[in-house]
Amino acid sequence: MFNVGADSLETISGKCELCQASADSPNVVVSRGNPFARFMIIGEAPGAKENLLALPFVGRSGQLLDKLISSVGFDCDNDVYITNAVKCRPPKNRRPTKKELEACRPWLAQQILLVDPLIIALVGATAVEAILGKKVALTSIRGKWQNWDDRLVMPIFHPAYLLRNSSQEEGSPMSVTRKDLINIRNRLDMMESGTDMRVLTSDRLIEQ
Ligand code: URA
Repeated sequence: MFNVGADSLETISGKCELCQASADSPNVVVSRGNPFARFMIIGEAPGAKENLLALPFVGRSGQLLDKLISSVGFDCDNDVYITNAVKCRPPKNRRPTKKELEACRPWLAQQILLVDPLIIALVGATAVEAILGKKVALTSIRGKWQNWDDRLVMPIFHPAYLLRNSSQEEGSPMSVTRKDLINIRNRLDMMESGTDMRVLTSDRLIEQ
């Protein structure tokens, strides 16, 4: 099932039966963006619009996410690969269960392996749980670099949360998210230009 390149993961997705979420969800929502991008964004799960269009982050949250990542100089089509921890829309838009996260985990693991990003942004607490394996308040971890599986990972606020907290004031969730994205942008630029404190030797990230 997974013996393919990241760009062809889409075409083999079809109907998934790995967990309960897929029962009510006609579409498997895999990804959008560039499967060769060095920056990967992982969200929670598709919503209604994502399910309809079979693309992640295309509703209101996605529009805000695109606006934020473009504001720090990323081209949403070319510089980023966007996916979710869970590929089917959970019934009634509820948060995916631990079982669903686990069932969908092989998808995500394969995507990470194939895309091989230098930096991953974990958008919201569910994505943090899916990757780092811990349930934490996002406020305690956002903006802090995590070294996971020899990759740099940064948890950031979910755009749905930002839509509910839209103040632009200094220190607001919106303004710290923008700072987190600038931090990601700068770090990625440094890694790509070889001026980062860490280097990639063969396929491992090593502290210098
Ligand atoms: N929220 C997510 O986490 N992912 C989507 O694709 C849409 C909304």
